[in-house]
Amino acid sequence: MRINTNNIGALILAAGKGTRMSSPLPKVLHTLLGENMINLVVSALKPLFPKNIRIVVGHQAEAVQKAVTDQTCRFVLQEQQLGTGHALMTAWPELKAAGMQYVLVVNGDTPLIKTSRVEAFIRQSLDLKADVAFMSMTLDDPASFGRVLRKDGKVLAILEAKDYDPMRHGPEPKEINAGIYLLRLESIAPLLEKITCTNKSKEYYITDLVYLAAQSGLTVAALEQGDEQSLLGINTPAELVRSEELLRVNIVEGWLERGVLIRNPGQARIAPGVTLEPGCELYGPCELYGKSSVASGAHIESHVWANDTAFENGCKVRSFCHFESAVIGAGASVGPFARLRPGAVLEEEAHVGNFVEMKKSRLGKGAKAGHLAYLGDTQIGAGANIGAGTITCNYDGKNKHATQIGAGAFIGSNSSLVAPVNIGDNALVGAGSTITKDVPANEMGIARGRQKNLPRRSMPE
Ligand code: UD1
Ligand code: CA
Repeated sequence: MRINTNNIGALILAAGKGTRMSSPLPKVLHTLLGENMINLVVSALKPLFPKNIRIVVGHQAEAVQKAVTDQTCRFVLQEQQLGTGHALMTAWPELKAAGMQYVLVVNGDTPLIKTSRVEAFIRQSLDLKADVAFMSMTLDDPASFGRVLRKDGKVLAILEAKDYDPMRHGPEPKEINAGIYLLRLESIAPLLEKITCTNKSKEYYITDLVYLAAQSGLTVAALEQGDEQSLLGINTPAELVRSEELLRVNIVEGWLERGVLIRNPGQARIAPGVTLEPGCELYGPCELYGKSSVASGAHIESHVWANDTAFENGCKVRSFCHFESAVIGAGASVGPFARLRPGAVLEEEAHVGNFVEMKKSRLGKGAKAGHLAYLGDTQIGAGANIGAGTITCNYDGKNKHATQIGAGAFIGSNSSLVAPVNIGDNALVGAGSTITKDVPANEMGIARGRQKNLPRRSMPE
């Protein structure tokens, strides 16, 4: 049974800049397998908090807010980022007004957090009747994480790496703070104003609540999570790719276990939102992102990159193809070396060969564009044949125009079809034509200089 969270709110801290990422992008907008950190955190919390997630935003607040896809999330603006404790203080009036008894606080840079782990943590904290609970971990190297200080097993405080002084505090503990807390509002309220910024960073630390609570005799619980790597916060590019690799391996192994054949799995990058049907076959290296899906019987060779693309039953993709928001119909074949841009649709058994680019265009059932073509804003009927070197001239410098090519039409090689233009069913366009007027059904259009053969002026010696 899912835990009842009616009296618990979730608060994600995502206002920080992420200085250590050395990037103009706010930290929580960095991606793991194409999904940004903030959406990953939201989707982990969502099953437990369907309508009760708040996000503290600050640095590039608008961009972060816009990137959150879940429409039920609410935002709290922390104009100046004075620390994690300050972020909590900023959200406090709203949490209180919402009548919550507890708040689950999660650092926005912990994107691999799992729903089940959070749920177990909340359950345990409530069972212990903790006023302040947090997840802790034991690491060989406590690195830049907050150190958990205990005396006789009892938690005394969390001390940040910078503030830890072995002379004063004794040998460094290996137990660290994972940055996920459950706080009882009523108990914490009087402690909030006691948080100061008298530390090396001159920031208000949420972790000071642990010391303050312990001092006031409240129940403090550090709940050990082993050395669970997925709980490590991301602060640097190296930590980002470490977590991304963890996620990647997890996803690929999950699909293999569910009966999907992924060859060279060490080089397959499959986003969390992708669905694969057992009976499909993938070869690494490959990258499948967004909401891409691969149906049973589909066969995707190596070096393929795809985002939001559907590969239907039994289609075949050869190496080195690039797909964005495309649909590859049942039994269709693509590549090698094809580029299908947004709105490219291949109906059943259609074929696109090497060096063909398609955008907002549909190839009807069994239609073919075998080599070297650009098809933009074009609807192509069933069984049509698009010759090598065909270009649809869809752009006049200002506007885009459409091309229609009827069923069974044949476009000779190296033709330019200047849109808007219609080529009727079973019509033929002579090779090398520049077509500016419609070609009616069953007729042939030819528009090129007539060939003349003349005697040479001088013969080679
Ligand atoms: C924090 C903890 C540390 C813990 C580690 C776990 C503190 C003081 N330290 O350190 O004990 O081991 O997480 O990963 O909390 N943020 C705001 N507003 C701010 C500052 C930060 O919303 O003013 C957000 C950030 O965007 C980030 C999160 O809070 O998502 C954590 O901040 P960060 O600076 O990464 O804290 P750490 O130094 O990693
Ligand atoms: Ca962090």
